[in-house]
Amino acid sequence: MKPCNVAWMEQREIRDSRISLRCIQAIMLIMLLATAPSWASSSIAPKLDIGKGGQCVDDPKFMRKNHMEMIKHQRDETVRLGIRGGKYSLAECVNCHASKADNNVLGSDEHFCQGCHDYAAVKIDCFECHSSKRKVVAEVPK
Ligand code: HEC
Ligand code: HEC
Ligand code: HEC
Repeated sequence: MKPCNVAWMEQREIRDSRISLRCIQAIMLIMLLATAPSWASSSIAPKLDIGKGGQCVDDPKFMRKNHMEMIKHQRDETVRLGIRGGKYSLAECVNCHASKADNNVLGSDEHFCQGCHDYAAVKIDCFECHSSKRKVVAEVPK
C-alpha cells in the first residue's frame, strides 16, 4: 500500500469511530430523556396545598410550565404600560392559591408557591415586595 493510502485508511477509521461515538451519545441522550423524572411532565411532584380551589386562570399543565413567563409579562404590562386587572395578576394567584389554613402561599413545603419552588430549587424575590397573603375580605370568626 502506498503511504498516502495508509494515511487515508487511518483517517477513515478515526472518522468511523467518531461516528459510532456520536451514535452512542445520541442513544444515551434519548435514554436519559425517556427515563429522567422531569418534574414538569411527570406525576411525581411535591404535595401542594392548592388553596381555595376552583379553576386556574389557565390550563394547570400550561401554568406549571409557563407561569413564570405569564406573570413576568403581566408585571411588565402593569408596571410599564399601566394595564391592571390582567388575567395573570400575581395578587390574584395569591388570593386563590394561598392556603386556607393561614392565607399564605409561603410558609412550608406544602404552601403553594414555596412548596414547588423548594422542590425545584427555584428562588424568587417577588414576595419581598408583593404580599404572599390572601386579601381577606372579612375575618373568618374562629
Ligand atoms: C380562582 C383560583 C385560581 C387562580 C386565580 C389561579 N389558580 Fe392556579 N390553580 C388553581 C387550581 C384549582 C389548580 C389545580 C388544578 C388541578 O390540579 O386540576 C391550579 C393549578 C396551578 C398550577 C399547577 C400546579 C401543579 O401542581 O402542577 C400552577 C403552577 C398555578 N396554578 C399557578 C397559578 C398562577 C401563577 C396564578 C396567577 C397568575 C394562578 N395559578 C391563578 C386555581 C387558581
Ligand atoms: C422591588 C419591589 C418589587 C419586586 C421585587 C417585584 N415587584 Fe412586582 N410590582 C411591584 C410594584 C410596585 C408593582 C405595581 C403595583 C401596582 O401598580 O399594582 C408591581 C406589579 C406587579 C404585577 C402586576 C400587578 C399584579 O398583581 O398582577 C405583577 C404581575 C408583578 N408585579 C409580578 C412580579 C413578579 C413575578 C416578581 C418577581 C419575579 C415581582 N413582581 C417582583 C414591585 C415589585
Ligand atoms: C408546580 C410547581 C410550581 C408551582 C406551584 C409554582 N412554581 Fe414558580 N416556578 C417553578 C419552576 C420549576 C420554576 C423555574 C423554571 C425555570 O427556571 O425555567 C419557577 C419559576 C418561577 C418564577 C421565575 C423565577 C425566575 O427567577 O425567573 C416566578 C416569578 C415564579 N415561579 C412565581 C411563582 C408564583 C408566584 C407561584 C405561586 C402562585 C409559583 N411560582 C408556583 C415551579 C412552580
